[in-house]
Amino acid sequence: MHTSSIFLETLHHRRQRLAELIDFPAILWSGGSSSRNFPANVFPFRPSSHFLYFGGIPLQNAAIRLESGKLQLFIDDPNPSSTLWHGETPTREEIAANIGADDARPIAELEDYLENAATIPVQDAATSTEQSLLLHRWLLPQQPPQGIDLELAKAIVSLRLTHDAAALVELRKAVAVSVEAHKAGMVVTSTAKLEAEVRAAMEAVIIGYNMTTAYASIVTVHGEFLHNNHYYHSLEPGDLLLADVGAETETGWAADITRTWPVSGKFSSTQRDIYDIVLAAHDACFEKIAPGVEYGEIHLIAATVITEGLVDLGILQGKPEDLVKMDLHALFFPHGIGHLLGLDVHDMEDLGDLAGYEEGRKRSDRFGLSYLRLNRPLRAGMLVTIEPGFYQVPGILNDPKIRDQYEYLINWERLEQFADVRGIRIEDDVLVTESGSEVLTAALPNQANNIEDLLKLPK
Ligand code: GLY
Ligand code: MN
Ligand code: MN
Repeated sequence: MHTSSIFLETLHHRRQRLAELIDFPAILWSGGSSSRNFPANVFPFRPSSHFLYFGGIPLQNAAIRLESGKLQLFIDDPNPSSTLWHGETPTREEIAANIGADDARPIAELEDYLENAATIPVQDAATSTEQSLLLHRWLLPQQPPQGIDLELAKAIVSLRLTHDAAALVELRKAVAVSVEAHKAGMVVTSTAKLEAEVRAAMEAVIIGYNMTTAYASIVTVHGEFLHNNHYYHSLEPGDLLLADVGAETETGWAADITRTWPVSGKFSSTQRDIYDIVLAAHDACFEKIAPGVEYGEIHLIAATVITEGLVDLGILQGKPEDLVKMDLHALFFPHGIGHLLGLDVHDMEDLGDLAGYEEGRKRSDRFGLSYLRLNRPLRAGMLVTIEPGFYQVPGILNDPKIRDQYEYLINWERLEQFADVRGIRIEDDVLVTESGSEVLTAALPNQANNIEDLLKLPK
């Protein structure tokens, strides 16, 4: 992978900034591949995002040691049999030059440089076991960090919360490819018979740019199942298709976009009514995004607009502000308004809520707020998603307790008239700027009329 001088300057700058925050060494492992069904058949490898942030390129079975702004690289040279199977790969020295390392050694020498070092456990079990054995403490990816590991995690969070110029270049690339993928999905819908064909058209664009998907694509006519990763349903004329698909660049930066469109090319009037409510909630959030604004408030704005819309349609009965306090909106919009986006689609979620929640805050136990992934004031340079939705989740709406509890607040007969709206989500990626916000995904239309126009494009 060829690297530019701007890229190297950025890596140096990130390492320098870390050195200003901690006075002990940090060792970050890239991780290794995990086997799928037998040892030699492996899942596609994805390095740790913390490694990528400071190391810059996707290396496998490598570690970087960061101290006082300097980087030591630990990686083995490719062995002859690997060259036989995989072709020529760069040597340790070439990689070191590529990422601006100050020193480079075989991985076995890492054990001479462990003293007082902090780390963050990677996701693959083989590497996190290795980390635990070398550093003499349990380092489990699902366990909250402690001691100097916690100090390191907080330092990295404070850097990664806002994006530098080089990160934004990558994030914009991921967005541009994802926008093209969504357009391809819309265009193929009129001739596709299965969800899988739409997924294929969308991912073909991403693969064609030598990118990967940043997460398992959701392309489904059952958008009410929030993490539906099946693609076998047929597309029927009255269906809405929900596509949540985002690309990840070669150096790991992600986009996260959702659009919902009618298979027939035209929204029914009931679909259009609800779509416009979700879009109104989405637009109301954008108007408010600016440095200093609490992301939790943005969530409540979306909840209020959705509730007002459902009251206007006669689906909910009561005063919108009272209904929001009772979490009525959450029966139809059970997730949070969005999350941080960066090297991870839910950025730094490997650290639990350390990145998403301001220090001292905890997840609410209210149904309407417990799935809020981000709860801190916004800052210029943060990239967040805004993704309101409306879903008729059978597990919620068919629950006899819920039907009983909300017998008079929901007009169930009226709701039945909206049976052709199973799931709608509109998700965009928004950069917080000094003066407000910039919607990075703005090139992909989200108004119902404009989506219908895209669906009419000639094949
Ligand atoms: N694609 C995952 C999400 O929207 O959060
Ligand atoms: Mn998202
Ligand atoms: Mn998404």
